[in-house]
Amino acid sequence: MTIETLDVGARAILTANDRGGYTVPNGRVYPFQWNWDSAFVALGFDTWDRDRAWKEVETLFNAQWDDGFLPHIVFWQDDPGYFPGPSVWATGKTPVTSGITQPPVAATVVRKLWDSAIAADADDAYRLRLESLFDKLIAWHRWFRDYRDPDGRGVVVAMHPWETGRDNSPEWDIPGEPIDISNVGEYVRRDTGHLDAKMRPTKLEYDRYLALVQYGVAQGWDHAKITAGNPFKVADIGMSMILLRANRDLLHLADYLGRDEEAAEIRAMIATAEAGIDWLWDEEKHSWCSRDLLTGRSSGFITSASFLSFYAGLADPAKDAAMLAHLHRIGSKVEYLMPSLDPEDPGFQMIRYWRGPVWAVVNYMIGTGLAEAGFDAEAARVRHDTLALMERNGFYEAYSPVDGSGSGGDDFSWTAAIWLAWR
Ligand code: GLC
Repeated sequence: MTIETLDVGARAILTANDRGGYTVPNGRVYPFQWNWDSAFVALGFDTWDRDRAWKEVETLFNAQWDDGFLPHIVFWQDDPGYFPGPSVWATGKTPVTSGITQPPVAATVVRKLWDSAIAADADDAYRLRLESLFDKLIAWHRWFRDYRDPDGRGVVVAMHPWETGRDNSPEWDIPGEPIDISNVGEYVRRDTGHLDAKMRPTKLEYDRYLALVQYGVAQGWDHAKITAGNPFKVADIGMSMILLRANRDLLHLADYLGRDEEAAEIRAMIATAEAGIDWLWDEEKHSWCSRDLLTGRSSGFITSASFLSFYAGLADPAKDAAMLAHLHRIGSKVEYLMPSLDPEDPGFQMIRYWRGPVWAVVNYMIGTGLAEAGFDAEAARVRHDTLALMERNGFYEAYSPVDGSGSGGDDFSWTAAIWLAWR
């Protein structure tokens, strides 16, 4: 397929999944607005429709709560094709939303949109929109500081595996054991009605997801209460790196807008993260790893999120060298980087969701970080592999790192968007 054909195909997917101001990740499996999906989708729209790109992010932030929290799903309209739907979340908000968040990539995306507006001499027309988004972005970042970092370590503590965006990563297995699933009750999953169960999380994982949702409902979605008593609290390496990066981009915007007070506040958040993030370095594995806040134990899993240290701008020569050694080792075991789990891990499964498959959005962040850090050959490999997967197999949710076959839903919005933004 030629680049032009792929461009046309990718734009057609975004257009078909556009519900008017927001885009669904996939019409059948994910029929609502998802938080970090929309941010990446905006990068795709920005390659041909700037106004629509900004609108995607603005629509998402229209669902922000008063305390700055930005939900992981916005149920702009109901759809029976997904479980758990709005009535299960019962957050009582308008619009109806879920009660957990997702990786904060939005500030980095907004900075990209802004840079692209400047390059096209369109910044005057977007300045007010930037001002308004800036206020919402900083409110969300403050929310992370106030509710998702109880020990003030400068990390992000996920209260639900879905918050990490890497739903069934093995990092959540042991920390998930204390979750009481005895009262979850009967329910019918919809995901396995659309897709092969082999590609999806297990029943035990789903029981835990639902038990945590029920816990949030019982707390009236009061985030202070959840932070205090949640049975699952994991400092996620992915979200921690992503928020650090997002704060650097937000600082850039604050300086640009002359927001001195906010800039000082963001600098403080960056300093806390830079001082505290080493807590997530696993000396035994020589890798960045998620860590259970309740037990203090490192997960010991090397996942694709471990490689986001470059994207976070953590220039530490010894740790960088260790991560590059892992990248080369993993790269010699699989055809396509970056598998979501180390292929030498006994739990590696090439098509099961976040236990093996390659995700284009994660690769985009890894590749961007490597390029910025000057690791050109590694950056080129990650980008090349990502684009090759799409050229050979179309725009799937994820792909097998072994043979490149598509995994999960097809015609996937954020995959198409990454093609447009990164090719
Ligand atoms: C799955 C993914 C998550 C994504 C969502 C919608 O839950 O794990 O990262 O945001 O699907 O695509």
